[in-house]
Amino acid sequence: MLVLGIDTSCDDTSAAIVQDGTKILSNIVSSQTDIHRKYGGIVPELASRRHTEMIWPVVTEALSGAGCQLADVNAIAVCHGPGLIGSLLIGCGFAKAVSFARSIPLVAVNHLEGHIFASFLEEHTPEFPFLALLVSGGHTSMYLVHAFGDYEELGRTRDDAAGEAYDKVSKLLGFGYPGGPVIDRLAAEGDPDAFAFPRAYVPESFDFSFSGLKTAVKNQVQRMRGEGKAADGDFSCNVAASFQKAVVAVLVRKVEWAVVKLGIRRIVLSGGVAANSELRSRMEAMAAERAVDLYLPSRRLCTDNAAMIAAVGYRHALAGDFSDDTLNARARLPLGRLHTALTALS
Ligand code: KG4
Ligand code: ZN
Repeated sequence: MLVLGIDTSCDDTSAAIVQDGTKILSNIVSSQTDIHRKYGGIVPELASRRHTEMIWPVVTEALSGAGCQLADVNAIAVCHGPGLIGSLLIGCGFAKAVSFARSIPLVAVNHLEGHIFASFLEEHTPEFPFLALLVSGGHTSMYLVHAFGDYEELGRTRDDAAGEAYDKVSKLLGFGYPGGPVIDRLAAEGDPDAFAFPRAYVPESFDFSFSGLKTAVKNQVQRMRGEGKAADGDFSCNVAASFQKAVVAVLVRKVEWAVVKLGIRRIVLSGGVAANSELRSRMEAMAAERAVDLYLPSRRLCTDNAAMIAAVGYRHALAGDFSDDTLNARARLPLGRLHTALTALS
């Protein structure tokens, strides 16, 4: 079965062709970074206009890259949320129109579900059940994935998402958007113990919180700038390294706590922040120590892409879970049910 995946949830226009839910034939991502960089973040109106211009060229490139035509496509899987509403509407409108015009079945996919299933596009795929840590620009959550379609949300951030904190710290230091890759690079050159930034381990909960850390970084940077101590070339690298150490420490500690408390055997990382070098290596070390299996998608499958949407779309199609021209984009679209794990344990 060939599935055409489409993702326009944020600032990347992406289309992919995936065979039988596992084999990527093409995965095209047209980035809008250059458009938004000068504003220090995504401008929703500009994002949706760019999606309108790029959707057809990107889909055409995905088809030709896979050596196929629309007539060969068995289903169209489109991300319908969560995300920027104007951006989502372009992908959904396009997918509905092509589905109707060419009589190709339509499948609606939750972006978060797409991220979690990116690991299924790699050679070694996890078995159910597993713990999924989803860390992106808009979300930071942990899920117990019992089976396809059966998700229990253990916890989530109470304020900023981890990726959002990366982006804000990068902006504060005067670097561009997206901040994650910049901070990742700077941190490699800095001293992670230069500053003791706070770590919020929300007690007896699988929830996260990153806004206190972000504010502490802001206060430190402003204080040192005021004292004329921020001109040193190492300053930004040291802030980046100390900030990153704090974020990664919290993410790894929470996952480790879940592993111990719930007897988890398999961990899946997903979302843009899962591309982070420090997070990947620290999580690998913890998984080895706890003797649990860790599934890390390649970096290009961590950040937004349509192959992950097609992979999930395939499973919905197999289950006969199709959509139609009443499909609506949804800026907010929760995934799964809230956890009962902690209450069951207490
Ligand atoms: O999953 P994603 O592409 O889009 C959303 O669904 O939000 O994640 C984007 C986020 C951005 O905040 C970006 O700064 C962050 O992922 N990111 C990283 C890295 N690469 C991307 N954060 C830390 N380290 C990275 N290497
Ligand atoms: Zn995403």
